[in-house]
Amino acid sequence: MDQPIRLKNNGQISITLNHRAKKETVEVKEFVTEVASPEYELLKEIEQELNTLVGLEEVKRIIKEIYAWIIINQKREQHGLKTGKQVLHMMFKGNPGTGKTTVARLIGKLFHKANILSKGHLVECERADLVGEYIGHTAQKTRDVIKKAIGGILFIDEAYSLGRGGEKDFGKEAIDTLVKHMEDRQHEFILILAGYSREMDGFLALNPGLESRFPIIIEFPDYSVEQLMKIARKMVAEKEYVLSEEAERKLRDHLISVKLQMHGGRFSNGRYIRNVIEKSIRTQAMRLLTENQYSKQDLLTLRATDLVFPKDPTTFSLY
Ligand SMILES: Nc1ncnc2c1ncn2[C@@H]1O[C@H](COP(=O)(O)OP(=O)(O)O)[C@@H](O)[C@H]1O
Ligand SMILES: [Mg+2]
Repeated sequence: MDQPIRLKNNGQISITLNHRAKKETVEVKEFVTEVASPEYELLKEIEQELNTLVGLEEVKRIIKEIYAWIIINQKREQHGLKTGKQVLHMMFKGNPGTGKTTVARLIGKLFHKANILSKGHLVECERADLVGEYIGHTAQKTRDVIKKAIGGILFIDEAYSLGRGGEKDFGKEAIDTLVKHMEDRQHEFILILAGYSREMDGFLALNPGLESRFPIIIEFPDYSVEQLMKIARKMVAEKEYVLSEEAERKLRDHLISVKLQMHGGRFSNGRYIRNVIEKSIRTQAMRLLTENQYSKQDLLTLRATDLVFPKDPTTFSLY
């Protein structure tokens, strides 16, 4: 049988109340009289920040684990114990709109708080920002971008495109420059390569030796319909709007059918939701203006008629 009171390893006390058949567990945080360590406080802060994101449980777990690993390594060092080589360069794999850039930005912020990065800013770039037009130009361009990212995160979107052109392509020069700097200035910035899973795997296969330089590989799965609905509600609330019940229903039905149509295809997830909401806010504005309706409730509410969906959801980001 459970002990009535036991101290959990996270410093919380859990009390189990036995009322005959009914069993309840009450978490009593206030019982902890010991002052929590700053490292633990920061972990709680990191958890709070991460919890603003819908889903992504695996991503959240990995980020907390990396943080714990860094802190423990620092402690081990203080005791003269061996520490693992800490390479924090990462690879993010997933479809568009699955939160890769959002998470990268958050990691920058959190790692800055934890003193792992001196600035924590995010420099986002793609092939065209790195690759030049003549020999030597690419190395220079890439070095300039790295310089901007020092103290923070260098996030390269669609990184597989650097490996597309083969041996003669200047993309290779960009990769070589990146590899050199990610080793030489290992603790000064974090490099994150992002892109579709399949393309990133192909890219790694063509560039053996690259994979071992990215010990942290994170998969960003597509969101479920319910997760997309949560993201929609969150985005709408942030802009001080609400979806009417009917609008919610219409959006959910639409998402179900889009996901059925696209199974395995390239649905742009959170970005699609953002586009739908931005478009519906403009449609609502036009409706209110023509109806001459300006009550607070009217101004707040996005109705089903305000939700306009694209004919082809795969090309939605184009308009
Ligand atoms: N888990 C999430 N919770 C809340 N909003 C999200 C989440 N994932 C993505 N979004 C939103 O969806 C949009 C696209 O996300 P982004 O990070 O740019 O995706 P990616 O970089 O993978 O293309 C952004 O507006 C972002 O705020
Ligand atoms: Mg992105």
